[in-house]
Parts: sequence; structure tokens; C-alpha cells
Amino acid sequence: MAKLAYVNGRYVPHGDAAVHIEDRGYQFADGVYEVVTIVGGRMIDEEPHLDRLERSLREMEIAMPMSRAVLKMVMRELVRRNGVRSGLLYMQITRGVAPRDHKYPDPSLPRSVVMTTRKADYANNAKFADGVKVITIPDIRWERCDIKTVSLLPNCMGKTMAARAGAYEAWQVDADGMVTEGTSSNAWIVTKDGTLVTRPPTHAILNGITRLSILRLAREQGIPFEERPFSVEEAKSAREAFTSSATSFATPVVQIDDTVVANGKPGSLSRRVFETYMDYCRGLPDQGDAPKAASRRAG
Ligand code: PDD
Repeated sequence: MAKLAYVNGRYVPHGDAAVHIEDRGYQFADGVYEVVTIVGGRMIDEEPHLDRLERSLREMEIAMPMSRAVLKMVMRELVRRNGVRSGLLYMQITRGVAPRDHKYPDPSLPRSVVMTTRKADYANNAKFADGVKVITIPDIRWERCDIKTVSLLPNCMGKTMAARAGAYEAWQVDADGMVTEGTSSNAWIVTKDGTLVTRPPTHAILNGITRLSILRLAREQGIPFEERPFSVEEAKSAREAFTSSATSFATPVVQIDDTVVANGKPGSLSRRVFETYMDYCRGLPDQGDAPKAASRRAG
């Protein structure tokens, strides 16, 4: 079965999927996106991802292209048609197609909606067991990193620098020497007394959905945490470090630049966070199960 993409109302072969050259996403990076992980056929944290999508759209004055219910139907249909049990769904909404002009076009312009899927085997991934290296780089992005726009060139530059340095990720650092976040993940450390630390969700970072789930699980499990900025020096001398995102879950960080973190092995609290988060992913109700269960209860 050929892989399909969803493009503006149609499910088309992935190789033929295209948008117009005057799409504002193509010309101005005038759009937003979400990446939702799929584990065991379930979309993880679907509602929080859609909440953040709607927030990003609002901040950019782009109207939702369709109701949330219809969006969810399309997401499920594409995942179903592509037979994805483990992987991710990518969704992008741009302001639409209009003759090139910097100012926003009429808001009634049909928005462009594109979705793709990708299969991934999360079970057998060495980075979770062995940990990864990150490098630190200056954060050269704009002042609204809380909006999940497709304008990602500094992130692409940073990730490329990381790859060239043999690292998995680049943690970006603000003018005060404090870590903001990775190029596509949120940064965490564990202090000597076993407290999780991650930067608070201001305009300086994307408020990761994985980040929010980890904080909630930590609260439920009585793991102490603090939302505050931390410096590169503090990270390098931390007991543990990890980096979180929809696709990297909570990946242990065992080296920052040339400094090995602790003994160079994933720390015990990072492992616990990873396992707890994976259990949470595996334990969510199957898509479609929840309404059935609810109606059984109601009946
Ligand atoms: N990136 N910070 C940035 C800059 C990101 O791009 C991402 C996600 C995160 C983590 O957010 P979440 O936990 O909601 O995935 C933090 C996605 C995965 C991407 O661009 O592919």
C-alpha cells in the first residue's frame, strides 16, 4: 500500500503531495505545526497538542481551518490508512495561498492543511539506553519561541552543528548564559539533591507537551521539580541531564560539550522519568475506546 499524505481535503500518494508555490508557508514560513507521537497505535497527548496548535494559530491570527473534531477525524484516518502503529503524525497549517505580500491577506483565505505520517521503532533505540551528547550554542532565535511556527532555520542550523560535532542535540543558551531549550526538545537537569529542573514556559521556549506530561507525572509520583532557568555550568556539574520531546521522549544526556555528565551513564532519575513516561504512553486508552467505554458506563 502506497504511503499517503493529506493535502487540503484529499488523501494523495506521498510522492505526489504538493502545495502551491505561493503558499505563505513556503514563502514566509507563515504557518504552524505539531508533531504527535504514536505508540501502540495511540496518539499520545492528542488533546494537549491540539490545544497548543490552536494557541499557536491564535497568536498568529490564523483561524482554525476546520473544527477540532474534523481535524481529529483526518488525523485518525491518515494514521489508519498508513497503518502506523509506532511513529509520528506531522501536521502543518499555513495562512494559505495568496499573491506574495508581507501583510496578512484576508482572514477568510482558505488555510492550507497538510498531514504526513512516519513509522518509527521506538522500542529499539540505543539513544534511550545509552544516552546522548549535546553541544551548547548561542540562542539566536526570535522572541516568540512559544509559538510552534514552521520558521525553524536557527533550529536547523543548530541541529546541523550538533550532528557535525557528533552530538544528538544542541542546547541553546541565552545572553545570560542560561540554557533555553534544545533545537527540537526541552532541556532538563537533575540537581545533586534529586530535583528535576527545567526552564519555565515563557516566550523564550516552546512549552513542550512531553515537558508538561513529565511535570504532571513527577507531581503524581512525588518527584521534586523546579521550573527555573539553569546555566551551562550548572548543567555540566549536574547529577543527571535529559532532553524531552514527542519523538525523543526523555532521552538521557551523558555529555555536554566536552564535559561528561556524572559517570557518563544515564542517571537513575532520568531512567525513572523515561520509564514512567513510556508506561504512561503505553497505558493510554486505545483510539476510539474512550467514547465506547463512556457510553457503556452511561448505559
Ligand atoms: N519539536 N522545543 C522545541 C524548539 C521543539 O521543536 C520541540 C518539539 C520541543 C518539545 O515539544 P514536544 O514535547 O511538544 O514535542 C521543544 C518537534 C518534535 C519537532 O520539531 O519535530
